[in-house]
Amino acid sequence: MSTPSLSLIPKPVVMTEPEPSSAFELTADCQIVAADAALAAGNLLAHSLRPATGFALPVVPMAAAGQPAIHLLIDAAIDGEEAYRLDVEPQSVTLRASDYAGLAYAVQTLRQLLPVEIFSATQVSGVRWVVPGVVIEDRPRFGWRGGHLDVGRHFFPVEVVKRFVDLLALHKFNRFHWHLTEDQGWRIEIKRYPRLTEIGAWRRHTMIGHGDNKLHDFDDTPHGGFYTQEQIRDVVAYAAERGILVVPEIEMPGHAQAAIAAYPELGNLDTPVEVSGEWGISENIFNVEESTFEFLENVLLEVLDLFPSRFIHIGGDEVPKRQWNDSPRAQAYMREHNLPDADALQSAFIRRMDDFLNAHGRVLVGWDEILEGGLAENAIVMSWRGEEGGIAAAEQGHDVIMTPEANVYFDHYQFDPASEGLAIGGLTTLEDVYSYEPVPPTLTPDQAAHVLGSQGQLWTEYMPTAERLEYMAYPRFCALAEVLWSPSERGTYADFLQRMRPHAQRLDLLGIHYCRRALDEG
Ligand code: ACM
Repeated sequence: MSTPSLSLIPKPVVMTEPEPSSAFELTADCQIVAADAALAAGNLLAHSLRPATGFALPVVPMAAAGQPAIHLLIDAAIDGEEAYRLDVEPQSVTLRASDYAGLAYAVQTLRQLLPVEIFSATQVSGVRWVVPGVVIEDRPRFGWRGGHLDVGRHFFPVEVVKRFVDLLALHKFNRFHWHLTEDQGWRIEIKRYPRLTEIGAWRRHTMIGHGDNKLHDFDDTPHGGFYTQEQIRDVVAYAAERGILVVPEIEMPGHAQAAIAAYPELGNLDTPVEVSGEWGISENIFNVEESTFEFLENVLLEVLDLFPSRFIHIGGDEVPKRQWNDSPRAQAYMREHNLPDADALQSAFIRRMDDFLNAHGRVLVGWDEILEGGLAENAIVMSWRGEEGGIAAAEQGHDVIMTPEANVYFDHYQFDPASEGLAIGGLTTLEDVYSYEPVPPTLTPDQAAHVLGSQGQLWTEYMPTAERLEYMAYPRFCALAEVLWSPSERGTYADFLQRMRPHAQRLDLLGIHYCRRALDEG
């Protein structure tokens, strides 16, 4: 018990052998010294050390002479974005980072260097809170290290979302991709269009079993919920304190059934639709009336006000074209705009949103279907149907985020489906995630520079509870953290597992319902 830990996940770039005479012991008289731009990270550290130690460590702008201290500072001499250096000496620990995010990650490293009991939510006695005498120099391999959460298929309250963010932060992720709108539920309050949440956030029932089963029954349980704008601002600020940027996703032109249920004039049919209670791809997509574009732009204006992120995700995936092909209005629009087919119409739709976002100083991100019919000028592509879309986009000089479903879809099974609860399909083991290499070898160095990184996807059709979400997410996010943070020569899967087992004690103490099997049998 209570030995200091060197099982860091993700593995740092450089960590010296621990020097016993340099070790630091955290005691109740320690100060946290942080000022100005470092202050929020100092508070984050103080807050995270408190439950297990019981120490109410003061966060002060200047060190008092002769007292042990943890110093946090932003230091331009540290090279590279999100980079940090951590120095342990008998009377001090010093965290220096090139920017705020780097400091937030250094805080996570310091937590992991302490005995695992530091992760306890209640005070632990009899532990000496020793930090081993190491020097760490660390920086991420990729600038996009994301976690995606679909709150449309199942709604998760703010506390669950924050816990998800906390776990991303623990593993030095820097993007929380918040998938806020779906056929099965619209989850973000838009003041101008209250019916989006009055109607669109609620479905009357949900199909039972797998979406492939066409003879399914429904449960009798209404499901829904949404985030107020105040809650969203709170989550955005909470994530920012942890070095995480929240990237919102507002789906268009597909995955729009809940919005169309709320405002039928947005759809292509004369008959009303309800918020979907079924899994699978809905035919109900937005129409191309000028008033619908204006609606979407007005929605985005409120989104831009809530989310400082430069990146705004507009979905763009899985758009069945049948309703456009059957719609005289859509056909007329295509003729007027010289669009030869529905793919070109989809491309024109996305380009309009690209122009709108660019005019507001933001960058459009979309799933790889936005390549069809021609990619909008400044768009970033998330390549999910394999890597081909990402490769094509990088070859065209666009930034890409590699999210291939075979490797980083955490709604896939982790083991033989027969031995697991219901999931969407596929098989993506912990080792598959660990072995993932986001930069395809066929890219030239210039093209490879367009690969911003990767992220893990949680689509929640088959994750109705926070426990199930955590089971699917962890430990796979731990493996992905290392793919994205650690140098490409990061080491073997066996080495990862060896660090993962002590790391799992941290997850245990945090009460995470992770998939233990992956460690015992993996
Ligand atoms: C997706 O999985 N439809 C992006």
